[in-house]
Amino acid sequence: MKLTFTRTQTVGTADRMLYGHFLEHFHRQIYGGVYDPASPFADEDGFRADVIEALRRIKTPIIRWPGGCYVSAYDWKKGVGKKRVPAYDKAWRVEEPHTFGTDEFIKLCRKIGCEPYICTNAGTGTAEDMSDWVEYCNLREMGQYAKMRIENGFPEPHGVKYWSVGNENWGGHEIGAKEAEEWGRLVRESAKMMLRVDPTLELSAASIANLDWNVKLLRAAGDYLDWVSIHGYWGGTPDGLKGDGYDTVITKTGSVISDEIERVRAYLTALGLEKKIKIAYDEWNLRGWHHPNFIDTWNRGAYKSEDEKAYREKVLGERDKNDINSIYTVADAVFSACFLNTCLRACDIVRMACFSPAVNTRGCVFTHKDGVVLRPQYFVFELYANLMKDTVLDVWREDVPTITGEGRTVDAVDAVVTYGEGGYAVSAVNKSRADVMTLDLEMLGGGAKEMRIHTVNGPSVDSYNDIGRTEVGITDGEWEPYTGRVTLAPHSVNVIEIR
Ligand code: AHR
Repeated sequence: MKLTFTRTQTVGTADRMLYGHFLEHFHRQIYGGVYDPASPFADEDGFRADVIEALRRIKTPIIRWPGGCYVSAYDWKKGVGKKRVPAYDKAWRVEEPHTFGTDEFIKLCRKIGCEPYICTNAGTGTAEDMSDWVEYCNLREMGQYAKMRIENGFPEPHGVKYWSVGNENWGGHEIGAKEAEEWGRLVRESAKMMLRVDPTLELSAASIANLDWNVKLLRAAGDYLDWVSIHGYWGGTPDGLKGDGYDTVITKTGSVISDEIERVRAYLTALGLEKKIKIAYDEWNLRGWHHPNFIDTWNRGAYKSEDEKAYREKVLGERDKNDINSIYTVADAVFSACFLNTCLRACDIVRMACFSPAVNTRGCVFTHKDGVVLRPQYFVFELYANLMKDTVLDVWREDVPTITGEGRTVDAVDAVVTYGEGGYAVSAVNKSRADVMTLDLEMLGGGAKEMRIHTVNGPSVDSYNDIGRTEVGITDGEWEPYTGRVTLAPHSVNVIEIR
């Protein structure tokens, strides 16, 4: 495959928030994940210092919190203050201790060095609840909620810039699901009140690649919005523990990802909002989270037939299977790199993406009592966040090899060329299970002297990392004279530095 490019022909400037993450109050993402006061790795605030280091190493730019489905019945006021009262979490059917709330989340983000991004409760919550939360976080001292924050030990405002109204309120699975008409009105009235507290907010609202939903949302609330949020999980259902194997995963790259982006772009353009409103892909992962019996009708059967203890073990115990590290293989790394490449190619409108989630469940960092396991997709973030430049160049592609799986034909190599301080960085994914691919780089205007390749890979497509087992990681090449030709190993994610 040959790529021809010049640094004067650009697609746009990528926002570093494409390398963002998501944390939800689900299973072990918060309690036993980032927050574990009893852990020997806990710092003075009870956060896992080894997890914070892992998220700093991949330059995490932003973290979305607290959900996800959890947020649609979340009362933020129960998560602040000296006395935290445990509550029953109706989204995930567990007890929420509320020992990790807004102030702990802000502290965590400060330690990681990332922006906090708060998703509000538009399920059972009201415009007043949402705007009260903005008061608590961002007003200096006016009103009861800023004074409450000060009383809780935070004299300075938290200064939370990124907020979204709601989470997947379009779906019947969501507590407080809405019809499109009522959604547009609720978003408008919530945005109105939130912006009257802090007009500098960047505001998103739950969306989906659906024309009717977007027309009604954007006609009612487009004036107040800076973002629309969409989500994507491709490899298997919430009940599909292992999800798709490598050959199926490959078929879910390319246009399967970009089609959703281009449909939302079309809706924004049709309403003349494509320059004003950006896309936040603020939940994405190859694999949907494993939580069978999540949908109520299925639950009633499970509940009727057993006592509560047995029910909980049967339904909730399944969630521990997300912790099986052999599920997360080179396929997760290859897909994740293809997803990020797709967002880079659409960086003029996709300005944020949050990997779902960052820690445990299907996340890139797995915690256990003696440390962490870095799953294959972690290393994709390590390469992209540290090496990719901000200017995305347009490329002319020739001799693009393809592979076919499950009746779909996709490009066998997915590559993006970026430019910035110090030179170029080219991400190149070889999706082929077995074939080595050659990538020729035709740099118009020349000037390159040296190149160095960094590769995420493992011995096979099923390679994975676990406690005491490291099969997947990064191999760093040496600087060598620039030849314009790169060899890509099978099933590998590569970033080539050029200077
Ligand atoms: O499976 C987890 C859920 O996926 C998140 O809570 C929700 O936002 C998405 O539907």
